[in-house]
Amino acid sequence: LTFPINSSLTSRLDNDSKKLPIYQHKASLQQAVKDNSFLVVTGETGSGKTTQLPQYLHQAGFWRDGRIGVTQPRRVAAITVAQRVSQEMRCSLGREVGYQVRFDDCTTEDTVVKYMTDGCLLREILADPVLSQYSVIVLDEAHERSLNTDILLGLLKQTISPTDKASKGRSVPLKVVVMSATLETDKLSVFLGGCPVFTIPGRTFPVISRFGCAIGQKDTESTVYLKEVVKVALDVHTCEMSGDILVFLTGQSEIEKACDMLYEKAESIDYRYDVQDRTVEGLLILPLYGSMPTDQQKQIFQPPPPGIRKCVVATNIAATSLTIDGIKYIVDSGFVKQLNHNSRVGMDILEVVPISKSEAQQRAGRAGRTSAGKCFRIYNQEFWEKCMPDYTVPEIQRTSLTSVILTLKCLGVHDVIRFPYLDRPEERFIMEALKQLYQCDAIDRRGKVTLLGGLMVEFPLPPGLTRALLQAATLGCEDLLLPVAAMLSVENIFIRPGHPAKQKEADEKHRMLAAQAGSCNDFTILLSVFEKCKASDDPSAWCKAHYIHWRALKSAFSVEAQLREILLRLRQRDFPMEKFDGNKSELFRRCLCAGYFTNVARRYCFEGFEKLFDQEGQLDWVIFHDVLATSRVYIRTVCPIRYDWVKDLLPKLHEVDVYDLSSVARQEVTDEEMAKWETKEAAKRQTEDYFKKLEKRNDE
Ligand code: CDP
Ligand code: MG
Repeated sequence: LTFPINSSLTSRLDNDSKKLPIYQHKASLQQAVKDNSFLVVTGETGSGKTTQLPQYLHQAGFWRDGRIGVTQPRRVAAITVAQRVSQEMRCSLGREVGYQVRFDDCTTEDTVVKYMTDGCLLREILADPVLSQYSVIVLDEAHERSLNTDILLGLLKQTISPTDKASKGRSVPLKVVVMSATLETDKLSVFLGGCPVFTIPGRTFPVISRFGCAIGQKDTESTVYLKEVVKVALDVHTCEMSGDILVFLTGQSEIEKACDMLYEKAESIDYRYDVQDRTVEGLLILPLYGSMPTDQQKQIFQPPPPGIRKCVVATNIAATSLTIDGIKYIVDSGFVKQLNHNSRVGMDILEVVPISKSEAQQRAGRAGRTSAGKCFRIYNQEFWEKCMPDYTVPEIQRTSLTSVILTLKCLGVHDVIRFPYLDRPEERFIMEALKQLYQCDAIDRRGKVTLLGGLMVEFPLPPGLTRALLQAATLGCEDLLLPVAAMLSVENIFIRPGHPAKQKEADEKHRMLAAQAGSCNDFTILLSVFEKCKASDDPSAWCKAHYIHWRALKSAFSVEAQLREILLRLRQRDFPMEKFDGNKSELFRRCLCAGYFTNVARRYCFEGFEKLFDQEGQLDWVIFHDVLATSRVYIRTVCPIRYDWVKDLLPKLHEVDVYDLSSVARQEVTDEEMAKWETKEAAKRQTEDYFKKLEKRNDE
């Protein structure tokens, strides 16, 4: 289904946008942006900030001085909003109104209103520090406190706008508008030098929230919420009057499972007897998550056919970034998937955790936009009181800062401790980022960005993966790593059907693919799937037959091409080259080791467990891509390696422990200090000690 752009639709859009609360303030908003370098705009979600304000700025003529750039923390929001606004402005997407997200640029020279992810704007600053293309930057969804938006706030405050020295290289000073749905607007204003706050008065309707009984204080690691959410959603469908349902779950795989379960159960509903409201004659089930393809996302906003109730099963994305009209009922699982940094293991872990109370209120509020609504929480009051924190901790205080610190260093911000953070991350997180950058050779022992670091920052990939890719490129075997990097950058490629029989069949097909890859290395399997699909005559049919997401692979093909292009461009610069003579499988795994040696795990063989070996007798050491923690902890995308390959790298893990990173963070390292640390030797000793202790413990 697509929106035809015809006159009746555009006039409806016109009327709709005039009804939004923001409309009455159009002229004053335009004036306020003209009068101030910084402006904070706040208003309830759905008041029209994201879709309307950039259009008002366009109408006020700002585009004559440069593009109007609007950032979003989430890619789905950037894409769908751009689609909507292009319809409202009656142009085709990519012309006057366009978007850019990682690996997908839909803009042209004509684009004057550009929606993008905050990560994209950060990369643009790397290439053009004064953002000379833009007249206005709108940082949207500042209340979400995403890592990139927080960093952009600091950068815009400190270096880009609006001081005279920064106007260098710009014809007119840059304007900055910061938009936030709730709270913290005073804090933002103070941070931005006491700039004015424009409040859009909103109206909302009461929402009755009800606690459930399925999830209690002891269920913070529960997996029962999925079933319960499906049950409650069906209850709402059969027992409540007409009106659409919005279900909050945690991620793609749960959402797909829940949708499957809903389809199956909804089929057996007899609409003559089972439903309270006789005007309800069917259920339209729609998933919504971050990596979804755009044509499917559009459907979410379309009103359902008469008599049909729409049920959107979404991640947190539907809490503030996207407003879906017609929602009257909320089903809240109480959980969210969150990336949290775990200092003990030194990496980010994707965890399913209880949401905060403010988040729960925000979710409930989505039912009260156009009329009174109801929110069904599947957890009980005790869970609310004991397990849910009051507020969500900003991302900058809970995730790895590695990429961001590298970006800052590349931008010439050497003192990464005294950078103006809206909320300062703990110093140990900054130290850890520096440590990781040092370990993957992105910065040297003095804290300066290395040749490799300068190359790494160009890739929109996590540091470990980038390091592995560059290692491969250095050895001339990037063809092995480029597809892998692409496959790890798209949504999960393996389909897991909800139906048990189908699930079994899918598992078998996937096992077969693994066998064909001839390896128990997950990275090789990804490579093999990529190559097999690409080589087949009908790739989409091939995917269907093997339970592989065709659209995910299609994006992987495009991502691979884009990464290749970046690499090609970098090759023109000073690019390191090395030689390697060994077999291909070893070469591949050694490249992976270069990036992932910080993610090493070793299988412990307790008594009663059989030890597993491959032909080389070495299956107990592995490296892995990431960690997922649900009710259990999983390492994902795993590759067996030989201890020999990481042995020489491991002292690097200790090297940083023995010298003082805080000076590196402030860039004050002198030769004398460097000499004092004698790091390499000390680190070697520490590694040896460590393994001695470990062996002793094992023997015991
Ligand atoms: O940014 P804010 O939350 O203030 O509001 P908005 O996102 O600009 O939404 C304003 C209106 O546009 C809402 O009624 C949305 O439902 C509608 N909208 C839409 O119909 N389709 C989209 N893709 C985006 C927004
Ligand atoms: Mg918005």
